[in-house]
Amino acid sequence: MEQNSKSPLAKSTNIVWHQSSVDRAARSQQRGHGSSILWFTGLSGSGKSTLANSVNVALHKNGYSTYLLDGDNIRHGLCKDLGFSDLDREENIRRIGEVSKLFLDAGIIVLTAFVSPFRIDRDNARALVGENDFIEIFCAADLDICETRDTKGLYAKARKGEIKDFTGISSPYEEPQSPELKIDTGKMAIDECVDIVTNFLVNQEIISKMS
Ligand code: ADX
Repeated sequence: MEQNSKSPLAKSTNIVWHQSSVDRAARSQQRGHGSSILWFTGLSGSGKSTLANSVNVALHKNGYSTYLLDGDNIRHGLCKDLGFSDLDREENIRRIGEVSKLFLDAGIIVLTAFVSPFRIDRDNARALVGENDFIEIFCAADLDICETRDTKGLYAKARKGEIKDFTGISSPYEEPQSPELKIDTGKMAIDECVDIVTNFLVNQEIISKMS
């Protein structure tokens, strides 16, 4: 995997890419399964974190190596310097794309749960890795369902103007046009949603089976 040092962000000069002798294929062989990025996207309250967490539990119980990157958690550390402006969200998703790429190379199934509202940012994350390595999962709960749930009370605050740039209210959400999976997390039972994701992984031969 060679890094693109021609990116406009690149400031380092005189750096040389070192090829690791232990590569992704070797790591996958040792683990006994493939790696992949499961990119969950959707409105706040759409069930991304819940679904990603449940898929993570199911895969872990079946002996697969996984790691979950969740928006709210990552904003406590790696991305604590970022807010919710368009530019900050772009940087948030760029970092998560890069971190996910490392996990992919480590032979791990990485699950990401970020609103990731902008198509270009998701597409840029996809472009960092191979086409088959990025599984975009649109958690397609309608806004009114997310707002009625309002598990964190954020929609009410956004409606009152106490939170600005809130996705779905005062900041846009650009729906994926051709996600690998579109799941109606507003209406479907969680177990059914989990099965859709794990069956996809089996069909793609990333994992062999689920018990
Ligand atoms: S993203 O747009 O940059 O992908 P991210 O997934 O990291 O967002 O964080 C979204 C979470 O932050 C939401 O689940 C919600 O709990 C919280 N949040 C706080 N402010 C906002 C906002 N203005 N828009 C969306 N989510 C917000």
